[in-house]
Amino acid sequence: MTTRTRILTGITTTGTPHLGNYAGAIRPAILASEDANADSFYFLADYHALIKCDDPQRIQRSRMEIAATWLAGGLDVNRVTFYRQSDIPEIPELTWLLTCVAAKGLLNRAHAYKASVDKNVENGEDPDAGISMGLYSYPVLMAADILMFNAHKVPVGRDQIQHVEMARDIGQRFNHLFGNGKEFFTMPEALIEESVATLPGLDGRKMSKSYDNTIPLFTSAKDMKDAISRIVTDSRAPGEAKDPDNSHLFTLYQAFATKAQEAQFRGELLEGLSWGEAKNRLFQLLDGQLGEARERYHQLMARPSDMEDLLQVGAKKARAVAAPFLAELREAVGLRSFVNQDNFTISNSKKKAAKSSRILSFREGDSFRFRVLAADGSPLLLSSEFADGKKAGAVIKQLQSGQTLDIRTEAYGFNVWLDGECVAESSAFYVDAAQRDAGIEALRAALAPIED
Ligand code: TRP
Repeated sequence: MTTRTRILTGITTTGTPHLGNYAGAIRPAILASEDANADSFYFLADYHALIKCDDPQRIQRSRMEIAATWLAGGLDVNRVTFYRQSDIPEIPELTWLLTCVAAKGLLNRAHAYKASVDKNVENGEDPDAGISMGLYSYPVLMAADILMFNAHKVPVGRDQIQHVEMARDIGQRFNHLFGNGKEFFTMPEALIEESVATLPGLDGRKMSKSYDNTIPLFTSAKDMKDAISRIVTDSRAPGEAKDPDNSHLFTLYQAFATKAQEAQFRGELLEGLSWGEAKNRLFQLLDGQLGEARERYHQLMARPSDMEDLLQVGAKKARAVAAPFLAELREAVGLRSFVNQDNFTISNSKKKAAKSSRILSFREGDSFRFRVLAADGSPLLLSSEFADGKKAGAVIKQLQSGQTLDIRTEAYGFNVWLDGECVAESSAFYVDAAQRDAGIEALRAALAPIED
């Protein structure tokens, strides 16, 4: 099985996406997810949004608008794992485990926090005036987002590089303290796309909500047209040659045009095309490219329950990865079941445990269950619910006894049967039969009797 590169990024849900967000982040992320080697995790960072915004209406609207924008933009939810951060309870749980190892001094150095402190000091206020623990701990929550899924690459803007570095720092510390030689967490790398367009806004500065110079993306054709009519140009009259290389209108056009379209537009500007007509051309280009997506966007916004369903599926996929991993991390820090502990850990030799697969038992309500994890920590199997720990223990024993396993495939998953009873199911998310079969092989290896 080839290992794909896991790409993960979050979008803070506080605003309505504009054309700059689309060209700078959304479009490249959707394109990247189409690469066969990419295993993309994209999520709505709505817990992060709460740090910056205490308006429930706005939070809710933004979550829907951002979800609809990504889906309308062509994100294929069958290829990627698309979810809301707040649907994954394992993330805040991991945040706490990481908070307990994150150095306060590290967080003191976070740019966003420091900027707020500096501002307070400048204004003669208490240094921590108006600063919540949420803002202070922002990088720990972000570290949990990233480390939970062992992301390799994290596409972000430059302002977020420090946060990714902090995730490495915190993850490394956890590995060191609890890994016993095993690397629980993959070290993530920030991915800064140099080639991606940073669009200028109406006034030529970077397009940004804070400058109030944005071009709306999907609200309506009229809104887009109105914004385009407000693009600042020089005062050259119709018929006078325009300088494309000093026109942000041209830069905007370029970001969406083919090479041929670009060359033609350049020629026309040099020949004296009027700015009014040039704005028309830009509108035609954008409308041609985004018109259909705009329709899809409005359909999605009109049927929020469809989006809810898609996001629930995404949450399930994400939790199939997060839950068993978190169980392993809880185990590592010493939050373990009191029941049948000795039966349930394969080996108490640290070295051996570090290399071998693991079986973790846990309680869920009144019942007992267990998981089988591969040596690399990836989830393989989740048991059914058993009424008592003894029964669960007996099933584990039988599975490890070396008898031929009765494994029955079902779509891209499988079940394990014992004595005419289904006792467990696959717990990883497989995208095809080959992956599933590799999972079955890994399970056989994990349950094979230990040879000394
Ligand atoms: N902090 C990021 C931003 O504001 C959003 C975010 C939250 C994120 N969690 C993340 C980005 C994890 C990448 C990975 O842009």
